[in-house]
Amino acid sequence: MTRTLTSMLIVLFSVLALANGSYLYPQFYDRSCPQAKDIVRSVVAKAVAKEARMAASLLRLHFHDCFVKGCDASILLDNSGSIISEKGSVPNRNSARGFEVVDQIKAALEKACPQTVSCADILALAARDSTVLTGGPSWEIPLGRRDSLGASFSGSNQNIPAPNNTFQTILTKFKLKGLDIVDFVALSGSHTIGNARCTSFRQRLYKNTGNGQPDLTLDQSYAAKLRQNCPRSGGDQNLFFLDPVSPTKFDNSYYKNLMAKNGLLSSDEILFTQNQQTMEFVKQYAANQELFFQQFAKSMVKMGNITPLTGKNGQIRKICRKVNS
Ligand code: HEM
Repeated sequence: MTRTLTSMLIVLFSVLALANGSYLYPQFYDRSCPQAKDIVRSVVAKAVAKEARMAASLLRLHFHDCFVKGCDASILLDNSGSIISEKGSVPNRNSARGFEVVDQIKAALEKACPQTVSCADILALAARDSTVLTGGPSWEIPLGRRDSLGASFSGSNQNIPAPNNTFQTILTKFKLKGLDIVDFVALSGSHTIGNARCTSFRQRLYKNTGNGQPDLTLDQSYAAKLRQNCPRSGGDQNLFFLDPVSPTKFDNSYYKNLMAKNGLLSSDEILFTQNQQTMEFVKQYAANQELFFQQFAKSMVKMGNITPLTGKNGQIRKICRKVNS
């Protein structure tokens, strides 16, 4: 009897939640825009065929969106009126990219299904498609996010982990978003593709915080090679592969690199050097790519669920760079 009552209540709450539009589910656009997923995939595929790095850039946009006010496309808003764009924050300035590809996806979707598919869902879909296109795992994406009416410049500076943050600081930033130590290790595996600028890791080559010496957790012959193109001063924007072994392939070589002291960013290498638990995960993912892929997919869904706007909250932007007038 109690069991029947419980199941009835679960059904009732689910129906109420759905009617209220307050949750994300994979079939969200099945009626309103059945072509949505195909459209996103085909624009992303073209962009990645033109420039392999674009997959990495799109994957990162979803992360930088979700850590600031939730996955609400706040990162896509340009400066205007009272909006101070997140694009100018320290983690994003001269770094976040892929905005033109998002514009192209949005234009194609507006043509097929006007004001139906949110920019926040575009970012979630493009991140998944980018992962798959470069050889990584696939996953089903709960959809139905809506777009923010504002941005948070300060949130972007404060919430997104920096490459020279301590282990504890980064873990705290993940926990504040409802993510845990496993998510931290698995999602960092995104650095199996894409680039970083000299300025993001220079201190490891010359004067590491604390002791003023080069970072000895970085292989010294690798460090010498990096110094050739990342001098003590100047060259801030020079680019380096995060995973020099297979820079455009989504695989588990990132974790193998960490074990060989070849992690590029301090925030990468500390996963192997600063904490027993994360070290064990690094070893497991280095030994078993399938295990990494499974956890990565789970952690991406979790990250994509960070405080979305649903129901009547927010809006469906017509152009991802600005709120509707
Ligand atoms: C754990 C904390 C993290 C830190 C400290 C961090 C930091 C960074 C930094 C400094 C760069 C290079 C930016 C530049 O020099 O222009 C970068 C690139 C990148 N990050 Fe992270 N990141 C973290 C987690 C993540 C997560 C969770 C994801 C995705 C789920 C991600 C995806 C990427 C990708 C794909 C790139 C390459 C982008 C490109 O080539 O355009 N990162 N990250």
